[in-house]
Amino acid sequence: MIDMDQGIDNTTQASRPPAADSRDAATGATHFVPKAAYLHVPFCAHQCGYCDFASVTGRDDRRDDYLDALAAEMAAILDGPKSLRTIFIGGGTPTYLEPDQLDRLLELTNRWFPVQSLAEFTVEANPNTLTEAKVDVLARHGVNRVSLGAQSFEPRMLRALERDHDPESVGRAVGLLGDVGITNVSIDLIFGVPGQTLENWKSDLERAFTLPLRHLSAYGLTYEKGTKLWKERRLGIVQPVDEELERQMFDHVIDRTTAAGWDHYEVSNFAMPAPAEGEEAWRCEHNLIYWANAAYYGFGTGAAAYVDGERTLNTRELDAYIDRCSQGRSPISQRERLEPEPKARETLIVNLRRLDGVERTVFERQTGYSLDELTGERLPEFVSMGLLADDGERLRLTREGLPLADGILQTFL
Ligand SMILES: C[S@@+](CC[C@H](N)C(=O)[O-])C[C@H]1O[C@@H](n2cnc3c(N)ncnc32)[C@H](O)[C@@H]1O
Ligand code: SF4
Repeated sequence: MIDMDQGIDNTTQASRPPAADSRDAATGATHFVPKAAYLHVPFCAHQCGYCDFASVTGRDDRRDDYLDALAAEMAAILDGPKSLRTIFIGGGTPTYLEPDQLDRLLELTNRWFPVQSLAEFTVEANPNTLTEAKVDVLARHGVNRVSLGAQSFEPRMLRALERDHDPESVGRAVGLLGDVGITNVSIDLIFGVPGQTLENWKSDLERAFTLPLRHLSAYGLTYEKGTKLWKERRLGIVQPVDEELERQMFDHVIDRTTAAGWDHYEVSNFAMPAPAEGEEAWRCEHNLIYWANAAYYGFGTGAAAYVDGERTLNTRELDAYIDRCSQGRSPISQRERLEPEPKARETLIVNLRRLDGVERTVFERQTGYSLDELTGERLPEFVSMGLLADDGERLRLTREGLPLADGILQTFL
């Protein structure tokens, strides 16, 4: 058996110069010039018990200042408009902004990243924040994809997660978006909620399939340190679901989506099949750029960026972010420039989250490292355990490996 906590044997570590810039086979994205941008909007109407994202409640009075700060941050980093493939505005809850503020945010985004070059422009939304006025603003600025946090269609599960919407609001939001021509809609669902049965989860998926969706993200509930749910678990107030049940729930989402012809393309992500032969399934191109370990811009509180080989992380503190940007100071709180080998390991780990896995020749061209040297004896061990499949050209997670993806991938770090 492999001890997942055991360190990597240093004798297998190679040292050589990094490969020249290259394109990722899946996305065509280059690894140094950003083709994607992430913008973070931290404001929420309400704090959900499980959430550890950079979000704030009760600070609505700072929304205009925040937009000023974002504008200042973008002006300080960008030397002119950039042609990108994808933009993702996430949160927090971007659609919690008032329509005129949303209008300002999207105008700012379009000024630096002209919409003409974009293949995908996603905004994250909570179902009950969307109104006719807001979807109109989204459509007018070229947003062509919306990711809705549905989480569950069962009132009991929504209460356990402390969501502030009812199940019907998801269908209503999808309808409003359809009315303005935004048909590329994804929903997020969470499984393994305390008190959830396999039947509850099956019924959640059936409800999802009644909607005209193009994409689904299904996450097992994680107890993030410091959240209310994490504290309640420690105090024995909530009981996590049994591991075996959670495994069955994950199995079910794979079985149900693939039986419907959907494309399971990343551990937690499923895309509606291609509309016609030779066309692409509705995968999220923005996330494919992350999983290719390619470059991207990031703006806003807690936003990560990866530009010119440097990873940066902005402060998560709202007031500090606004103060720093408005005074012409950088909001960056952490910087890191990875050496070629850790960078190659990181690439391997994010690449392997894709069900297409990693192609040896592409990996070597991109990172300058041989996949076999980097993984050492772990690779044949995982293959013999049936957790990874290796056909000599390409390495990928097997169906048995998928539920253990995080543990397996960590051992390659
Ligand atoms: C930025 S968050 C939420 C976006 C939006 N504000 C909302 O709540 O609908 C993106 C997604 O991550 C997932 N997520 C967040 N925290 C999680 C946790 N602790 N466990 C599992 N999934 C989580 C949820 O499905 C959520 O929709
Ligand atoms: S899950 Fe979404 S709405 Fe809830 S606190 Fe987190 S970011 Fe805000």
